[in-house]
Amino acid sequence: MKDKKWMHVTVGVVLVSMLVIGITLIIRTVNSDLVLPELDNELAARGLAIAQENGCIACHTLDGSVGIGPTWLGMYGKTETLMDGTTIVVDEEYILESITRPEAKQVQGFENVMVRYFLPPEDLVALVEFTRQLATPGSE
Ligand code: HEC
Repeated sequence: MKDKKWMHVTVGVVLVSMLVIGITLIIRTVNSDLVLPELDNELAARGLAIAQENGCIACHTLDGSVGIGPTWLGMYGKTETLMDGTTIVVDEEYILESITRPEAKQVQGFENVMVRYFLPPEDLVALVEFTRQLATPGSE
């Protein structure tokens, strides 16, 4: 009787370990899907780190695919159509406004789900430089 109890405990431990290993593998696979761009300057690399730390890239993709928000690939310098049908060229000023007051200008086709971010100016500068690096060549 006593032996059986130990067997149950052992089976339990093995099952829990397998679950933990399984989840770890799944998380790894999901993370490895994220292809990060190669950056040729330090400020942009900091911008990428800031975007990761603040969760921006949970909603903004870096590879051109549509996410919860517009992709950042080719965003800088492009002409964006807003909810009211007007257009605006994505420049530094517009990006800064989009981060600090996202409700000010709504991009057409997206939900108004982005919250305001209160980031130090040096982080904002780095974020802008990062998105500039993702611009379509010739449009920045
Ligand atoms: C919860 C999802 C979410 C997160 C997190 C998020 N955003 Fe957004 N963002 C959006 C959506 C949706 C839009 C488009 C609607 C709008 O204009 O607000 C947007 C719009 C933008 C735009 C304008 C894009 C364009 O093509 O005109 C910029 C720039 C931007 N976000 C930057 C950021 C930065 C920087 C962060 C992190 C500090 C961030 N976002 C975090 C959802 C998000």
